[in-house]
Amino acid sequence: MKTKIVGTGSSAPQNVVTNDDLAKIVDTSDEWIYSRTGIKQRRIATDENAGTLATDAAKRALENAKVDAQDIELIIVATTSPDYTFPNTASVVQSNIGAVGAMCVDISAACTGFIYGLSMAEAYIQSGQFKKALIIGAEYMSSIVNWKDRSTCVLFGDGAGAVVLAAVEDETEGFRAVSCLHSDGSKGHVLTYGDRAKLSKNEQDFLYMDGQEVFKFAVKKVPESITEVLEKADMKLDDVKYFILHQANIRIIEAVAKRLGQEMEKFPTNVANYGNTSAASIPILLDELNRNNILKRGDKIILSGFGAGLSWGSTLLEW
Ligand code: ACO
Repeated sequence: MKTKIVGTGSSAPQNVVTNDDLAKIVDTSDEWIYSRTGIKQRRIATDENAGTLATDAAKRALENAKVDAQDIELIIVATTSPDYTFPNTASVVQSNIGAVGAMCVDISAACTGFIYGLSMAEAYIQSGQFKKALIIGAEYMSSIVNWKDRSTCVLFGDGAGAVVLAAVEDETEGFRAVSCLHSDGSKGHVLTYGDRAKLSKNEQDFLYMDGQEVFKFAVKKVPESITEVLEKADMKLDDVKYFILHQANIRIIEAVAKRLGQEMEKFPTNVANYGNTSAASIPILLDELNRNNILKRGDKIILSGFGAGLSWGSTLLEW
């Protein structure tokens, strides 16, 4: 049994917030933000949330795949900013699109969530349990950042991306993904949000990040996991057409490219337009590449995520 990404979709709030806009609310500048992160603007929700963005992205992915929502048997939403603790966001999407009876689950693995979700959905399909799955990364990051903290609020944006993954009987199509997925809970304190003990005392708990630790972690672990995946697949860096990394920061992507000795042309990015949309960043970029016909059948691509947990991982697949 093989699997195939048969459709992609994405969605972002209409409201564009530039670096200059942010400079009006915190002590920052376009020059500081752009030179350190590569971010020019981000989309910030006004009346959207993770559920509405996920629903929009899912509908577009289904339309792109020409798959009926009723044929979806599994919905996975990777999010750290769900509408509710329960019901999960996948159930919200299920109800909105009419995927009656599908198994619905949210994954909390921050910016690595989409990679984890894709791998889990693929395993379900390989096992024969399901034939069609929706995997969505959706974030309402603007609801969890402290808008008074310039060191974090400038980095994030809202959005969602989705793929439809399907079993394919024809052996000449599709892929068997090769994945290397990891976590290191002992470094969890580097990137945190939502301490329930604080919330229960009515204290606010916003997103906290030790930026330099995250930077060091990402530029070490992402190349390692890419190398690990290639060794497992018995392939070389030059066999890979594109490396689609979590869009946290252009300097992380550039450092990874340099460590791997690969040209930046192989690392598509859209962080300038969306900022860091956490679990949504990889599927949003994948959708852009798909809709612009940049990805060709047979292209080998590696998706790499990294974030809170700390968690990281890479998946090699064939378009
Ligand atoms: N505007 C202006 N000045 C700022 C801002 C801002 N938005 N934010 C911080 N500063 C100031 C700091 O106060 C500090 O001033 P000081 O020297 O007077 O104390 C100075 O800039 C330098 O601050 P640093 O935190 O040392 O800045 P650094 O060069 O490390 O850059 C950054 C910060 C961009 C966050 C960097 O650490 C980084 O890229 N980290 C990677 C983390 C990341 O991208 N995380 C994304 C979320 S996690 C994820 O997706 C996995």
